Amino acid sequence: VRRLILDCDPGHDDAMAILLAVADPAVDLVAVTTVAGNQTVDKCTVNARRVLSLAGVSDIPVARGADRPLVRRLRIADDVHGQTGLDGPLFDDEPSVPESPYSAHELLVEVLRTTPATIVATGALTNIARLLSDEPALAANITEIVWMGGSTDRGNIAPLAEANAYVDPEAADLVVRSGVPFTMCGLNVTHQALVTADVLARFEQIGTPLARVCREWMTYFASTYRDLFGFESPPLHDPVAVARVIDPAIVGCVEANLVIETQGEWTAGATVVDLDGYTGRPPNAQIAVTLDQAAFWDRMVGAVASFVC
Ligand code: BDR
Ligand code: CA
Repeated sequence: VRRLILDCDPGHDDAMAILLAVADPAVDLVAVTTVAGNQTVDKCTVNARRVLSLAGVSDIPVARGADRPLVRRLRIADDVHGQTGLDGPLFDDEPSVPESPYSAHELLVEVLRTTPATIVATGALTNIARLLSDEPALAANITEIVWMGGSTDRGNIAPLAEANAYVDPEAADLVVRSGVPFTMCGLNVTHQALVTADVLARFEQIGTPLARVCREWMTYFASTYRDLFGFESPPLHDPVAVARVIDPAIVGCVEANLVIETQGEWTAGATVVDLDGYTGRPPNAQIAVTLDQAAFWDRMVGAVASFVC
């Protein structure tokens, strides 16, 4: 069972990634840390607490992280995720799960100090870059960083940049260069994880209050993806990175050289993946290229169905 930290910016697909990481027996989720991205870090932190509260999970700390990228101004994705960052169902109460008294940085240090863990990051890499630059000795205890971000081809917020890379390219660059084993699950693979009508029907069949909320989140997400990007069904990006840790066979990867563009006038945040070996630079990352869709949805639907709430 792999010990897991989830660093996220919930976000509809982040919310589903949290549920998958909590429920799946192949991983032991020990901490949730938040970062500004889809919305402000304040809203993302409330949302992470909301997800765990709805799932009835009170033993996993939720700690607030960076409120802005390392050097750039924050660009939020309220067009995709709404005013709350998790629009759809309305809640008029405070989430019952409290915010940790630790900052994300303090919690990451604490969790990694004595025992190795894998980090799944489903937002900008700001918290992880800070951790690696301030506490370089801890790198030895990070088994792997598995990131939902980037793309082997086109972007989704700029022609050549995916949103998590675009928000904080300098952080992504620092993390990729750190030498910690790094896996990129980009748009090329997450666009294979589509929430189709069949998938929605499976959530409907579960019948619990939590499954109903998930369905409403995905219905909202579907509407923005339809309006903004013309997708018939929205891609559930972030749980793909969790699935890679749960069972590497679900997300097939190849080794390649990866660099992050930080300087380009038109291409900041581009993830330059040398799949064809043009550059002669040695491989430094695992790059996700295939998704076993049936196995992915079985794990994701099974995770939501496993909660009694
Ligand atoms: C990524 O950007 C965010 O909007 C999603 O939560 C996901 O992590 C997809 O580009
Ligand atoms: Ca995210």
